[in-house]
Amino acid sequence: TPPEPLILTANPPDSHVLVIKLNRPRVLNALSTALVDLLLSALKSADADPDIGAIVITGNEKAFAAGADIKELASLSFPSIYIQDYLRGVSEGIPSFKKPVIAAVNGHALGGGFELALACDTIFASTNAQFGLPEVKLGTIPGAGGTQRLVRAIGKAKAMHMILTGDTMSSTEALNAGLIAKVYPPEQLLDAAINADSLAKTMASYSRPIVAMAKEAVLQADQLSLSDGIRLERSLYYSTFTTADFTEGTTAFLQKRTPSWKNA
Ligand code: HXC
Repeated sequence: TPPEPLILTANPPDSHVLVIKLNRPRVLNALSTALVDLLLSALKSADADPDIGAIVITGNEKAFAAGADIKELASLSFPSIYIQDYLRGVSEGIPSFKKPVIAAVNGHALGGGFELALACDTIFASTNAQFGLPEVKLGTIPGAGGTQRLVRAIGKAKAMHMILTGDTMSSTEALNAGLIAKVYPPEQLLDAAINADSLAKTMASYSRPIVAMAKEAVLQADQLSLSDGIRLERSLYYSTFTTADFTEGTTAFLQKRTPSWKNA
């Protein structure tokens, strides 16, 4: 029998959402370089696919991903990890993609698995989710954006505590801390992430260029000073007035009908 694919993809009918399921269940979806390469190419082709408006990355009920594959890590030397730049393509790629990428987290999201979720545009989780950066326990530190993104997500005190102890955070704590946007029972998480009101399918139903502009503006909040960020926002906002979809959206509202987006 052929080996099981490391990722599985699905495109539920009429959703315009691509679901990417990490699929190494026997090792809690440890992110081998082979899996990460496949993930990056699936993300890139979904970002370029005109039928797709949003992407959901998920795992299984036990694990979103329990981190880098420790077996692989243990065999790497400094020059090889430096050259390989493990997870960097995904961690820096997701923010540069035009389409929203959502992490739907069940179970463990640890180390590189948590960093993958942090690189996503938003996180939905189940009541059994556990988030943590346990690298310190292995004699290393987070290396795919964890130290920087976690501070921005939940503030210095909580981030420092998690990174220096390796302690995990439950989804209740994560919701209170502003780390995640929504929480569902485990068996409902994926369906909700795709179909529930105001989740992936809803994002995918709006004008693609407008959603891309909104994503860009939000992500720049971490990069720019407040005045530069507000200037960027204003210029993107004024740019929307040049689009057919601004005309369509406002006209449809005034005519009390559903807009029919032109993606233009
Ligand atoms: C390789 C892993 C793994 C990992 C689990 N497994 N996590 N293999 N890499 N990250 C394997 C186990 O070895 C085991 O294989 C099987 O998956 C099931 O795991 P168990 O430990 O038996 O499950 P459980 O007792 O339920 O404990 C779950 C767990 C624990 C608490 C999540 O597995 C764990 O602590 N995993 C490591 C988490 C971690 O340290 N992640 C950070 C990695 S470093 P066998 O063959 O025994 O059945 C990192 C750096 C990123 O991510 C840097 C980015 C640049």
